[in-house]
Amino acid sequence: MPDNKREHWGSSLGFILAAAGSAVGLGNIWKFPYVTGENGGGAFVLIYLLCILLIGFPLMLAELTIGRKTQKNPIGAFRDLMPKNCMVAHLIGIAVGFTGLLLFAFKQWGWGTIFILLSVAIFKLGWSIVGYMGVFCGFVILSFYSVVGGWVIGYIVEILRGTINFETTAQAKDFFVGNIGNPVWSVSYHIIFMIACIALVMSGLKKGIELSSKILMPVLLGLLIILIIRGISLPGAKAGITFYLSPDFSKITGETVLIALGHAFFSLSLGMGAILTYGSYLDKKQNLYKSTLSIVALDTIIALLAGLAMFPAVFAYGGSPEAGPGLVFQVIPTVFNKMPAGSFWIFVFFFLIFIAALTSAISLLEVVTSAMMDELKFSRHLATLTSGILIILLGLLSAVSVTGWENIPWVETVMVKLFNCKQGNFFDVADNLASNWLLPLGGMFISIFTGWIWGTTYAIKEIREGSPEFANVNIFVLLAGLKDDPKHNPEKVTWTLATTWGIFIRFLSPVAVTIAFLYTIGWI
Ligand code: PHE
Repeated sequence: MPDNKREHWGSSLGFILAAAGSAVGLGNIWKFPYVTGENGGGAFVLIYLLCILLIGFPLMLAELTIGRKTQKNPIGAFRDLMPKNCMVAHLIGIAVGFTGLLLFAFKQWGWGTIFILLSVAIFKLGWSIVGYMGVFCGFVILSFYSVVGGWVIGYIVEILRGTINFETTAQAKDFFVGNIGNPVWSVSYHIIFMIACIALVMSGLKKGIELSSKILMPVLLGLLIILIIRGISLPGAKAGITFYLSPDFSKITGETVLIALGHAFFSLSLGMGAILTYGSYLDKKQNLYKSTLSIVALDTIIALLAGLAMFPAVFAYGGSPEAGPGLVFQVIPTVFNKMPAGSFWIFVFFFLIFIAALTSAISLLEVVTSAMMDELKFSRHLATLTSGILIILLGLLSAVSVTGWENIPWVETVMVKLFNCKQGNFFDVADNLASNWLLPLGGMFISIFTGWIWGTTYAIKEIREGSPEFANVNIFVLLAGLKDDPKHNPEKVTWTLATTWGIFIRFLSPVAVTIAFLYTIGWI
C-alpha cells in the first residue's frame, strides 16, 4: 500500500485504548501479581516503577516516534531511517561473526551457525535487522501467548459447564495439570484463541483493532474495579494488602532488578515493534508525549490494581500467595469458590483475563501482519491468514509440551544436541528466548538507534509535531504548572522560587500526605 493510503486510527482515544490494550495483558493480570509475590512485594513494585519511569517511558516514546515518522512496519521503518553506510551495525556484525567462530572452536555447532548467519544478515540488512528481530519476536511470543489465552477460554467453558468446583488447591492443581497436559484440550483452545485474533485483525485497523479495544478496555476496567471492591470488602483482606504492598528489601538482589526490567519491557509491549507498528497508524496531530504518558499510566495502574483484586481474596480464604504461575489458574478458582456466588466471580475474573489477553494478542499479530502487507505486498486478509496459520503451527509445539517433552521428544533432542539447551518444555524455551533475550536486546537497539544513529535532533523534530510542549517547555516550568505564565521564559533553564514551589505543592505534598495517611491507617 502506498504511504499516503496507509490506514489511520479513527480517533486519538481509539489509538490510546488500542495501545493500552496491547500493553495490558497476561503480563499485568497473570504475571505481575505472582512475580511481585515472589520478589519482595512492595520493594519489587518500587523497582518496577523506577524501570517503567526511567527506561519504559522513554523507549515507548521512541517507538511511537519512529512508527509515526516512517508510517511503516518495523522492518521498513528501520530501513527508511538508517544511514547509507551502517558502520556501527557492521562493527556489531563483525563482533557477532567472531563470536560465531569462537563458538565453533568450542564445538558449539548450533549456536556457532546461528551467530555466523546473524552476522551475515546484519551485513546485508544493516539496522533493519532490528525490525526483522521484532517481527520474529512477535511470532514467538504470540505462539505461546495464545496457548495461555486458550487455557483462559478453556476455563471459561469449564466454568459454564460447572466443572470448576474445587474445595482444595490440590484439586485445582490436578484439574489444571490434567487439562493443559491433554494435547487435544490445549491445542483446540489455542486454535480457538488464534481464530478470534485472526478475525479481529482481518477486520482491519478501525473496524477490528480499534473498535474492539474501545469496547473491551472499559469493560476490563469496570470488571477490575468490581473485583477489587469485592476483594477488599472481604473480612481478613488487610493481610493480603499488607503482603502485597509492604516492602521486603531483603529479597532484593541484582536478579530482582533484572526481572523487574524484563517485566517492564514485556508489560509495556516494548522492544519488538508492537508499539512502533501502532504508532505507524498515527497522524501528525497526535501528541506523542501525552499518549505515551496515558498508555504507561494505564498499564501501570492496571497491573497494580490486578494485585489488589487478587491478594486480599487469596489471604481472606487461606490461599498461598506464592503459588507462582499457577496463582491465577489454581488459587483463584479455589479461593473464589469459597465466596458467596463463587462461580460468578470466577467467571468474571477469567473473562477479564481473556479480554486482556485478546487485546494484547491482536497487537502481536498486527506486527507480523503489517510486515507482510508492507514488505510482501500481501492484502490484509492474506497477510493475517498466513501469519495466523504459521503462528498456530509454532504454537502447537508449546501447546503439547507444557508438562514435559513426552509428546515431542525429537524437539528436545535437537535442542540438546545443537544448542546444549535443557529446559522443561518448549513453552519455557519460547518464553525465555522472547522475554529475557529478544525484548531487552530489541529495546537496547531501538534506543541506540534513536539516540545515536537516527539522532535525537530528528526524533525531537518528529515529536514536536503534535506535542510542542515536549521540546519547548522547560521541565521545571512544566512540572510547576507555569507553562502559560509569560514571565517564565521557556528558552532558558528556569529554576525559580515559583517553579520550586509549584513542584513541591503539586508533587511532594500530596505524596507526603498519602504516606502519612497510609501510615496512620497502619498499611505501612
Ligand atoms: N504487554 C503484553 C502483556 O502485558 C504482552 C506483549 C508483549 C504484547 C509484547 C505485545 C508485545 O501481556
